[in-house]
Amino acid sequence: MKSPKVALVTFGCQMNKLDSEIAEASLLREGFLLVDDPAEADAVLFNTCAVRAHAEERVVSRLAALYPLQDRRPGLVLGILGCMAQEHGEAFLERYPRVSLVAGTGHFHMLGALLERALSGERVAALEGGGDPDSDRRDPRAVPVGPRAFVAVQRGCSMGCAYCIVPSVRGPWRSRSKEDVLRECRKVLEAGAVDLTLLGQTVDAWGRDLSPRQRFADLLRAVHDLPGLKRLHFVTSHPLFLDGETASLFGELPRLARWVHLPPQSGSDRVLRAMRRGYTREKYLETVRAVKEGSPDVEIAGDFICGFPGETEEDHRETLSLMEEVRFSQCYVFKYSPRPGTPAAAMEPPPAEVIRRRHAEALALHERISAEKNRSLVGTLQEVLVEGPSPRNPDRWTGRTVHHRIAHFPARDGLRPGDLVRLRITSASPVSLAGEMEEDR
Ligand code: SAH
Ligand code: SF4
Ligand code: F3S
Repeated sequence: MKSPKVALVTFGCQMNKLDSEIAEASLLREGFLLVDDPAEADAVLFNTCAVRAHAEERVVSRLAALYPLQDRRPGLVLGILGCMAQEHGEAFLERYPRVSLVAGTGHFHMLGALLERALSGERVAALEGGGDPDSDRRDPRAVPVGPRAFVAVQRGCSMGCAYCIVPSVRGPWRSRSKEDVLRECRKVLEAGAVDLTLLGQTVDAWGRDLSPRQRFADLLRAVHDLPGLKRLHFVTSHPLFLDGETASLFGELPRLARWVHLPPQSGSDRVLRAMRRGYTREKYLETVRAVKEGSPDVEIAGDFICGFPGETEEDHRETLSLMEEVRFSQCYVFKYSPRPGTPAAAMEPPPAEVIRRRHAEALALHERISAEKNRSLVGTLQEVLVEGPSPRNPDRWTGRTVHHRIAHFPARDGLRPGDLVRLRITSASPVSLAGEMEEDR
């Protein structure tokens, strides 16, 4: 029999991208073929995100766009995986009669078997009792890894920030053992990865839920020593857990990127308290100082939410002033979006136009700061880890500096993804740098 073809479309965060790799490995094991174009597929699966209403709306509109295709080919299976599936559960099947597979965040590694059932006409909901995919589920021979690979070290979140749906769709913290993490890291390094990113919703809290309790700094040291590694990142850090020891590693470990994603969410103590983040603005700044004591050049990336319920104009100005004070190299600024079942959903947010204006102000401020920072790098030499040709222009290649900035440069014979090159920076935009390769001497 011909192998059924599957198109898997991924939304959301890095954890979702990783879960899609695990899902692909499961599909390949069960004899499915992966295709990019839904028009060719026997099943189209969406790995979804539920973090903001907008993320869900995008999934629903992509889904509806496939209905005409399903009208022409009634056997076409449509499936919803991951966070939205977990959030809506079986109700999704009732609400969307054209969808016949709903699989939650614990079922990626058994997707092949679930899809077989859906293709034979069953309507399948798999939401409970899946469990976490472990390192043995990843198969670099089937799903190749690039020079940059992600490894989940902790799944779930136990924090309960007042606005956030992640703990309810991903469950509480589950740290993987150090041995498991190291085994998977070795596996992807042997398969050709050179740049590893350790992933967790609160990655720096890794090990707190293990017994005996383990320290994240020890995990970082162990991964840093693995053969073949050229660069190491970890995301996302929570300001409460980034301790002095982890901060000092920026000055100790030469292959650790000089970059940390440490979202403050707000610059106002009042809003931070209402958000239940567990720290104050001053505590956040202390953490930033500790990191910079480790190595003064470490760049900080941040997330902010504009328009949390109760946020006043003064609170908003505190957010802007925190942006000025820290001078983030990257900022993801979001409009607050009420999420069903979260404590904040019962509270009244500011009017939509106020949120829109505050969001635009925060974005504009960040753009000015990052443009200034990037411009100040023109003329400097930067070590860049090569990622490959830029998607839009194959004559240009891209990579990342040690501070996690995107850098573009002219293609050159013999250059390979994963190489380290030295670039003399010639120009800068708010989001990236451009440069010329320096000859090796
Ligand atoms: N675990 C990470 C973030 C996970 S969600 C952390 O704690 O930092 C990614 C980002 O989405 C968050 O940092 C936050 O800025 C944003 N976010 C989460 N819930 C949101 C909501 N309800 N509305 C708007 N933005 C939200
Ligand atoms: Fe959500 Fe807070 Fe957990 Fe981050 S730490 S995933 S924002 S609950
Ligand atoms: Fe990630 Fe979105 Fe789920 S941010 S954990 S895909 S809700």
